[in-house]
Amino acid sequence: MSALSFDAWAALHRTRTEAVLERFLPKDELASGRMFESMRYSVLGGGKRLRALLAYASAEAVGASADVADHAAASVEMIHAYSLIHDDMPCMDNDDMRRGKPTNHVAFGDATAMLAGDALQPLAFRVLLDTDASAAGIVAASRMLADASGARGMAGGQAIDLANVGKPMTQAALEEMHALKTGAMFEAAVVLPALLVESDDERVDALTKFAANIGLAFQVVDDVLDATADSATLGKTAGKDAAADKPTFVSLMGIEAADAYARVLTRQAIAAVETLGGNNARLIDVAFAMAERKS
Ligand code: IPE
Ligand code: IPE
Ligand code: MG
Ligand code: MG
Ligand code: MG
Repeated sequence: MSALSFDAWAALHRTRTEAVLERFLPKDELASGRMFESMRYSVLGGGKRLRALLAYASAEAVGASADVADHAAASVEMIHAYSLIHDDMPCMDNDDMRRGKPTNHVAFGDATAMLAGDALQPLAFRVLLDTDASAAGIVAASRMLADASGARGMAGGQAIDLANVGKPMTQAALEEMHALKTGAMFEAAVVLPALLVESDDERVDALTKFAANIGLAFQVVDDVLDATADSATLGKTAGKDAAADKPTFVSLMGIEAADAYARVLTRQAIAAVETLGGNNARLIDVAFAMAERKS
C-alpha cells in the first residue's frame, strides 16, 4: 500500500491525466477550422477528474499496468467531456459556464461544439483500443464503454432527463434516469480496468455494485450543490435545476434528506468492495472524497 496521502495521490493522478489526455488529443489544426482547439478547450485544464481518479484507483485494485490505467482513464474523461459539451448546448441545458469558463458553444459556436463532441467519441474508443491489454480484455472493455455511453447508458439517460422537464418523477424513475445519465459512466471508469485485465466475475460484480452506488450518490450531491452552492464555487451556473424545472433529488425529498441519502449510498458502495481482496483502499478514498465534495 502506497504511503501517499489521498490528496497527494489525487494531485499526482490529476496531473498524470492531463498529460495523458494531452498526448492523445489532436494538435495541428489541418483544414478543420477551430475544431481541434475546441476539443482541447473542453478536455484539458479543468474538471475534478473524478472518473479518471476512479479508473486509476480501480487499476490499483485489480493490478492493471500503467498503460491500461492511462488508457482507461483518458477514454472515460473524453466521453465525459463530450457529454458536457452537448449537455450545455442551447438545445439541451443552455448553459454558458462550465469549469469556470465559457461553455464550448459560447466560445466556439454551436456547430464547432457539436463536432468537437462528435469527434471525441470515436477518439475515446480509439484510445481504449490502443491499450496494451489482451484482445479479449479490449473487446469486453469496448463493449462496456459503448453500452455505458449509448442509448442504454448516458445518452439514454440524457433523453429521459429532457423528456421529464416540468414533470414530477417517482424516486424509482429518478434513480433509473440518474443510473443511466451519470451512473453508467462512473461504472465504466471503475469497471474498464478490471475488464481489460480480465478480472474474475466476482470482482467485476463487486466493482459494478460499488460504482452504481457512488454514481447515484454523485448525482444526489450534484443536485444538492445545484441548490445550495454558488456559481463561482461550482464553476457552472448554480440554481439551474429549479430554474429549468428539472425533477431532482432535492425537488423530490428536500436538501437534508438528499444529503443523508448520499451518505447511505456511499456506505453501501464501500461495503460492496470492502470484503474483496486486492488493494481497494484508493477506491474507498475516492468514494469518500466524492461524498464530501463541495464543487
Ligand atoms: C458534471 O460532472 C456532470 C454530471 C454528470 C452531473 P462533474 O461534476 O464530474 O464534472 P467535472 O468533470 O468535474 O467538470
Ligand atoms: C449532466 O447532468 C449529465 C451528463 C452530462 C451526462 P446535469 O445537466 O445535471 O450536469 P450539470 O449540472 O450541467 O453539470
Ligand atoms: Mg443536463
Ligand atoms: Mg447540465
Ligand atoms: Mg446538475
